[in-house]
Amino acid sequence: MDETIFEGRLKKHYEELKWLYCELYEGGQEHFGRLVEILRARFEERSASLKKLDSARAENPLWYKKNDMAGMMLYVDAFAGNLKGVKEKLGYIEECGINCIHLMPLLDSPETNNDGGYAVSDFTKVKPSLGTMGDLAELAAECHRRDINICLDFVMNHTSDEHEWARRARVGEKEYQDRYFFYDDYEIPSRFEETCPQVFPTTAPGNFTWLEETKKFVMTTFYPYQWDLNYWNPVVFHTMVDHLLNLMNQGIDIIRIDAVPYIWKRLGTNCRNLPEVHNIVRMLRMICEITCPGVLLLGEVVMEPARVVPYFGTVEKPECHMLYNVTTMATTWHTVATGDVSLLKRQMEIVNALPGEYVFLNYLRCHDDIGWGLEYEWLKGKLIDETAHKRFLSDYFTGHYYGSWARGELYNDDPASGDARLCGTTASLCGIEAALNRQDEDALSLSVRLDLTLHGYMLTQSGIPMFYSGDEIGQRNDYSYKDDEKKAADSRYVHRGEFLWDDAALRKEAGTVQNRLFDGIKKLLKIRKGHRVFLNAAAVSTRETYDVGVLCMVREYEAETLIALFNFSRENRTAWINEEGLYKDLLSGETLEAKGVLMPACGMRWLLKIESAV
Ligand code: GLC
Repeated sequence: MDETIFEGRLKKHYEELKWLYCELYEGGQEHFGRLVEILRARFEERSASLKKLDSARAENPLWYKKNDMAGMMLYVDAFAGNLKGVKEKLGYIEECGINCIHLMPLLDSPETNNDGGYAVSDFTKVKPSLGTMGDLAELAAECHRRDINICLDFVMNHTSDEHEWARRARVGEKEYQDRYFFYDDYEIPSRFEETCPQVFPTTAPGNFTWLEETKKFVMTTFYPYQWDLNYWNPVVFHTMVDHLLNLMNQGIDIIRIDAVPYIWKRLGTNCRNLPEVHNIVRMLRMICEITCPGVLLLGEVVMEPARVVPYFGTVEKPECHMLYNVTTMATTWHTVATGDVSLLKRQMEIVNALPGEYVFLNYLRCHDDIGWGLEYEWLKGKLIDETAHKRFLSDYFTGHYYGSWARGELYNDDPASGDARLCGTTASLCGIEAALNRQDEDALSLSVRLDLTLHGYMLTQSGIPMFYSGDEIGQRNDYSYKDDEKKAADSRYVHRGEFLWDDAALRKEAGTVQNRLFDGIKKLLKIRKGHRVFLNAAAVSTRETYDVGVLCMVREYEAETLIALFNFSRENRTAWINEEGLYKDLLSGETLEAKGVLMPACGMRWLLKIESAV
């Protein structure tokens, strides 16, 4: 029975899969059989309960496109020590209203030089301090019992330099050197450098690293200890697919394909988003549909919109199920700094015009820095210059701009380009840290309100909201990373601090920052889940408010209409939207007309239409 299911799914995709495979690999006919064997073996090994889940989801392909999914990303060690600890804390996750957890990389990686787990030294093993594969499977099973999904990273672009392949390559084994990009001298590397931009220009300049032991260069797009895998070699592809399916068999529901645009390299190109990348992602999608169709692919494509959307593939040939809404995230913070919503309005219009089937993951903060990937061409029309504007944003969010309460830190500040990225928790960027330090109650109220408004804005967008652990209790920056020499050079650790359970306990004490945020966010989530107007399928549009500080979005689904208003300025404003009918503010409970709507400084409203005009 199981076998026929597998054969049936394989048959459906066989021709296309083989075709794409043979396009990548010379002599592909010969190796393709090996790939199919891997799929079959991993399918056979998959548990009956996961296969049941696969079938249920395959029959209900809209299962993740509703308004009931809310995610949270967290570091296992920072949150609960280890995987067993996370299992014990699932009650807290549920209390937050969260039903999907993204566990930050947890596979084995070296003690130092691990890029927060993104330098994997063994794909078959969980980092011992966090637990075992068995613990992961148990956690996943418990999550499933509670209707919680688990998302895990798959770091496929590179391995750690302590991975077995890297160790063997370093001692001169050619077979293993061929799984990476090795060069005897700098001739080819220098040609790559001509066209390949740098990911970490300050903390890890260049795309190659000299290995004294072997007297060769190896390609290292990210950190020098992260060696780029060579997907031109089918053994690499096969092995990584095998590792991927093994993880899925532990009960992972969503796989985040880390740094996916980078996985294919070709001389003379910028080595990003090459057609072969899409070929591979499409193959991964088919591989999942054949072996574990209940699993979703989330692509990490931190690029401009024109580069992101192609990773959805087409209706006939889909690639990723979900992608990050990265430009909206960056534009949101730009709007906080400028108090001018015009670029955000435009960004919403661009997103709203995309096909409704696309599912975006919306977020305010994640474990990485914020890169200022804004639409500078458009801003130019407003006489805003890219370099000067980036400087302003950096100054604003590090609190060096007059009137700014934000407390962030720069990341990869590149003096050559004037470019810098930004780190910091939502609370600190919203001004909560500075207000608490200065014991300024008014500023604190305003900052808490801004924080809630930004979360409300994230929840107004179609797709899946992804919270960053700690944000629900307003966790501030953690500067202790500076005392740890393994972390000090990487300011992203400022927002990767330990989860403060003592602070979390304050969520139950009326009036505390933790309580205001926790209850506020829970309320927003509850309303979102309770109204079908938040479904992915709703029509979304924007309206003019005639106030540069206030954004208006309208969601419509069947008989429901919701007008969402967000005041990004630090003053009270009026949104001149002049809509007909009577509305109920789902947050304050007031009934009001939506003509000239008063908006408190940094505040928001969710106005549900209760009566049409007569
Ligand atoms: C992704 C991760 C980032 C990491 C990089 C290299 O962009 O989000 O944290 O440094 O990949 O693996």
